[in-house]
Amino acid sequence: MSIHVEVELPGGGQARAGDLDMHLNRGGALVGCTFRYDAAYLRDPRAYALCPELPLTPGNIPSGSDRPLFGVLADCQPDQWGRTLLFHAERRAARAEGRKFMTLTEVDFLLGVQDETRLGSLRFSLDDGRTFLGPPRAEVPDLVELPSLTDAADAVAQHRETDQDVRLLVAAGTSMGGARPKVTVRDSVGDLWMAKLPESSDRWDVQAWEYLTLRLASNAGIEVPVARLHRIGPARSILLTRRFDRRPVFQGPRADLQRSEDASWGGSGGRIGFLSADSLTQKAFFEVIDYRTLAETLADHSGRPATDGHDLFRRVAFTLLVRNVDDHMKNHGFLRRADGWSLSPLFDVNPNPFAVVESTPLRPGGNRIDREVRVLLATADSYGLRRDDARRVLGEVAAATSGWTRIAREMSLPPEEIALMAEAFENPNGDEARAA
Ligand SMILES: Nc1ncnc2c1ncn2[C@@H]1O[C@H](COP(=O)(O)OP(=O)(O)O)[C@@H](O)[C@H]1O
Ligand SMILES: [Mg+2]
Repeated sequence: MSIHVEVELPGGGQARAGDLDMHLNRGGALVGCTFRYDAAYLRDPRAYALCPELPLTPGNIPSGSDRPLFGVLADCQPDQWGRTLLFHAERRAARAEGRKFMTLTEVDFLLGVQDETRLGSLRFSLDDGRTFLGPPRAEVPDLVELPSLTDAADAVAQHRETDQDVRLLVAAGTSMGGARPKVTVRDSVGDLWMAKLPESSDRWDVQAWEYLTLRLASNAGIEVPVARLHRIGPARSILLTRRFDRRPVFQGPRADLQRSEDASWGGSGGRIGFLSADSLTQKAFFEVIDYRTLAETLADHSGRPATDGHDLFRRVAFTLLVRNVDDHMKNHGFLRRADGWSLSPLFDVNPNPFAVVESTPLRPGGNRIDREVRVLLATADSYGLRRDDARRVLGEVAAATSGWTRIAREMSLPPEEIALMAEAFENPNGDEARAA
């Protein structure tokens, strides 16, 4: 059975992009898939290739052996957190109906998330676009339901969830990737927000520090999503960021609406195409992509390669300076513009005082644990930057990140957490960047 795939185009308006077939083996594992662009889509002057694995050509396009699902589709599947919720929901449904638990497959993970909140600009249908697939009876909750959603997520973490908890979370929490508990909620205007929830295993107020880091990034000249922090208890906060893969509904005089004024993003309330860096680079499962390669790949796919290259350099510098170690290809994203793929606002950048994690190296074969500003500077030309411009950017980023204690005090973060985070923010890369 073919899945009808619709896409919302950068200038606004929906089009049938084509048909998808997913091939499962008898055990239910995905072994590959095939996509065919619709003939009318191929003739449409607004059409774009949905991801690098799907060039605009007629006929069947098979997936590669390293990547059984095309990137743009994998990007709108849930990850660890959303999949856990779908497993809980299936287990409960099976029990209630007195039947065996069904093995959930990649097809379920693609089609079982809510249509309205699905990441990016794709929608799926089995009846030729009359209805779009998602879980039954799933309503996007309002912002005011955040306390019950947070309680429900706590219940799941502590293995004491009820049917009601699972129902609430499946409706709200399966559309985004990542491992951390999160939900999508709607504000009173109608805009969607992603809410990252606290976890009882957090060793510090992770979401408050992520919010602080977004403020530092913005001061460092990096585009960040519109963000809010809800403090809900001692060392417990919820981070809300407005969904950057949706055009804001509210068109009033708000300082944060630059994107909606940019005609290449189309009208209000619509969906914007999203691709992760994983998909842009067509990364194979065990492959390590380095930043120099990412910069060069982005230059091939962006409609404004100079701007995107410079912006990426600034983000890498920032990542080193705040000791963001959970740094991998799913934590960079691109939004579709009429002229190509461009960096999305920043997300999931977290200061870490001590974790040793294999992160994205700065150049092919580079060190994944001790990443040095010196090496980044040596690769500046891959980002289209002259050495002195790169030095200037490093100085600007270092000046911005050195404001971390001021913001932490302004936010009344606990002194013991501020002392701990000094290990993240006061690192040798900062001194080197200032010296540059
Ligand atoms: N404001 C946002 N709007 C739209 N998509 C987002 C936003 N923030 C994050 N995402 C998407 O959601 C995914 C999960 O968010 P992330 O912050 O990375 O969570 P986690 O900490 O669990 O990895 C990201 O990989 C990205 O694709
Ligand atoms: Mg992430």
